[in-house]
Amino acid sequence: MKKLRVGVAGLGRLGRVHAANLAYRVPGAELTAACTVTGTGVDFAKNELGVRDVYTSYEDMLANADIDAVAIVTASADHCRQAELALDAGKHVFCEKPLGVDLDQCRRAEAAVERHPELTFMLGFMRRYDASYAYAKRKIDEGAIGVPYMVKATAMDPASAAADFIRYAQAGGSGGIFLDLGIHDMDLMRWYLGSEAVEVHAMGATFRHPEFRAAGDDETGAAMYRFANGAVGMMHIGRIGPHGYHVETEIVGTEGIIRISAVPEKNLAMLYDKNGACTECVQGFQERFADAYLAELEQFVTCVLEGRKPGVTVYDGTASTKMGFATVESWRTGKIVEIQ
Ligand SMILES: NC(=O)c1ccc[n+]([C@@H]2O[C@H](COP(=O)([O-])OP(=O)(O)OC[C@H]3O[C@@H](n4cnc5c(N)ncnc54)[C@H](O)[C@@H]3O)[C@@H](O)[C@H]2O)c1
Repeated sequence: MKKLRVGVAGLGRLGRVHAANLAYRVPGAELTAACTVTGTGVDFAKNELGVRDVYTSYEDMLANADIDAVAIVTASADHCRQAELALDAGKHVFCEKPLGVDLDQCRRAEAAVERHPELTFMLGFMRRYDASYAYAKRKIDEGAIGVPYMVKATAMDPASAAADFIRYAQAGGSGGIFLDLGIHDMDLMRWYLGSEAVEVHAMGATFRHPEFRAAGDDETGAAMYRFANGAVGMMHIGRIGPHGYHVETEIVGTEGIIRISAVPEKNLAMLYDKNGACTECVQGFQERFADAYLAELEQFVTCVLEGRKPGVTVYDGTASTKMGFATVESWRTGKIVEIQ
């Protein structure tokens, strides 16, 4: 069977994970090209992945590479423009979250997807492909917790990686902590509650690293959402998880509660000693969601090869960005913001 030839754009923290998956682990895919604007990315693609066709310009890769599809893992502010260029060039698109950092960009991406119904577009909300998150969704759909009326979400990057996230905030283009990190929880709230958010009140705090504030961002974010069906969302996100990468979600329903990853365990081992019982925690998104990153790309490639539409659409990207954008406005102004 013919393999899908993919070119990856962006070889940073996550681009390398996707590139390695496409090169070695996704049946049906072949990593035939890569592009990045940093020298270390070029070396990685050539030496670690054996990709010969490596570009330092996205446009050059689109025009010249032998590819059927692109995986866009560049800065968030570039996603929509690059997705549109790829679709207009006849390539299928896997695009990392967030879809965009403002709504005009998202609408342009929607229009490009609609112009090309023959092509596949998928957005990388990988948590939906994590075994525990997918299990929770199945249980909710089966009625196991009655009517879900609240989602409580926590997402903290590890304090050990704070320097990386400070650089990331300083570089700009990520949209800030709410659009960069909180967007996952916004997507999950919509998915689990089956409704759209209509109102948000957000705030932030910075206690350890003033560099976040200096970069126009915040170290910690908190937000409350009201949904159209009356349900409530509560979100806590941050960059200084003391024990590791802590992503925990609780879905509360009229007949039960589902709690995912209350302790972000590295594995099932527990060390018992004079300090008590201790389990190590995962230290980053790459480790916690390794299986989900692979599963979502498998889904993308299968959808392209079988002509099926993926579960995460460009409209999920716009809806979550709309929520994210309103959240940022509320954080900036201190006011409750309606989401229209
Ligand atoms: N789904 C997740 O859990 C998750 C986790 C991390 C990052 N992300 C998303 O992935 C994207 C990349 O994040 P990252 O942490 O890997 O960032 P990063 O800064 O580590 O890497 C960005 C990469 O993009 C390249 N790049 C920038 N502009 C380019 C261009 N015009 N053409 C080609 N390459 C270009 C850079 O050279 C670099 O290799 C972001 O949109 C981020 O939101 C998603």
